[in-house]
Amino acid sequence: MTAGRSIGILGLGTMGRSLALNFCGRGIAVVGSDTGEPARRAAANAGLEVAADPAGLVAALAPPRRILLMVPAGPPVDAALEALLPLLAQGDVVIDGGNSHWRDSARRAARLEADGLAFVGLGISGGEEGARHGPALMAGASAEVWETIRLLLETIAARAEDGESCCARFGPPPAGHLVKTVHNGIEYAVMQALAEVVDLARRGHGLDLPAIAGLLESWARGPCGGFLLETAIRVLRTVDKESGRPLLAFVRDRAEQKGTGGWTAIEALELGVAAPTLVEAVLARSLSAFPPRAELARTLPRPAGTAPAGRPEDLEGALLATLLAAHAQGFALLAAARAERGWPEDPGRIARVWRAGCILRGALLEPIAHAFDRDPGLPFLLLDDELLALLLAGLADLRGAVEDGARTGVPLPAMAASLAWLDALASPRLPADLIQGMRDRFGAHGFERIDRPGRQHDLWRGA
Ligand code: 6PG
Repeated sequence: MTAGRSIGILGLGTMGRSLALNFCGRGIAVVGSDTGEPARRAAANAGLEVAADPAGLVAALAPPRRILLMVPAGPPVDAALEALLPLLAQGDVVIDGGNSHWRDSARRAARLEADGLAFVGLGISGGEEGARHGPALMAGASAEVWETIRLLLETIAARAEDGESCCARFGPPPAGHLVKTVHNGIEYAVMQALAEVVDLARRGHGLDLPAIAGLLESWARGPCGGFLLETAIRVLRTVDKESGRPLLAFVRDRAEQKGTGGWTAIEALELGVAAPTLVEAVLARSLSAFPPRAELARTLPRPAGTAPAGRPEDLEGALLATLLAAHAQGFALLAAARAERGWPEDPGRIARVWRAGCILRGALLEPIAHAFDRDPGLPFLLLDDELLALLLAGLADLRGAVEDGARTGVPLPAMAASLAWLDALASPRLPADLIQGMRDRFGAHGFERIDRPGRQHDLWRGA
């Protein structure tokens, strides 16, 4: 009864079931379970072996057991662990494959380790399709435990064009979920940038949705190409069956979010990393769901009779510069976390894992991975000559798009934030000198002079 099964999956929703089918399809025996009867039935109907409850799942596995939790992040993970822990034995490994917060993963790892069990935090990206046919997998585990599950996970993971598996360990248990969280933070920014391009093309340039889809299609083989660009094109091209009009015209313009983008923004604020493109992408979703919008859309004036100065095709460069800003900020955040905690390790491998299987997969990941091949310790993406050249190719178009947004009253928060961020990076001197003078004036906080060493203080008596 126990021989041959290599992994148990607790949680047979869309993702859990798809992963189970992926394992089975590659010859790895799986037993699954779920607290919900409909999910168990759907999995059984799909041909999977299903246990009635966690006890049945554990009993069906030979020790040391490997159990993958595919339940929603938050309290359901703790509830699943509570159900499992009394049933497990020393040496068993529990893998959390949800979008958990890395601090929860650190806490859960400590709890399991105290009982002689191992905990792995596993970021899984790629949605249902990826889970079924090859996701990107971002793991946090002890080096020893990793060796016991590495082959199993590599078997189901996506492979990049060069054949490398998109599955890697980036440090201790919380590292995997931090890498996945930052992946999602960049994902929010790429989606927001695409939404802004479409908005400026639609309301600024006056293009209809099929024409915008055509514009985006012409960029698919360039540096902005990737899964999210293709997804945007699909959404733009989809027609509502009843009306024959684009389905998008009927979709409420209120973006939802489950939290990982916000966690990325909080992480940036806590670590003191300027990641305005990532933060603005989260705020734009919040603003879209802000109730007073409806009334203010009637009362606040918008520019009238103005037209963009740029051309729709220039938006490709603007998008490219914004995407590079988002990735550079995400990797800067990962570097700051590494400086603070020692993980996530190996940024070059993070870029390589993101080349296939995940939502972020796209043309930009190759040059980013090459930048780390040239300099594994690269502290910031824009210090790499090739990536800087790519950014410079789009910078003037980004400025033009932001000007056009301001001129026509089309909000471009991610693009404008990216441009301001780049202008700050390009400034030999920032107005932080005034901030320091004011802080010292009212709080005697001190300041540094550029012409002599040491901490200074002045009474700033004025004229
Ligand atoms: C992935 C996705 C996936 C999901 C996010 C979206 O990598 O497969 O990121 O995890 O799409 O949870 O989250 P929001 O609901 O917050 O947009």
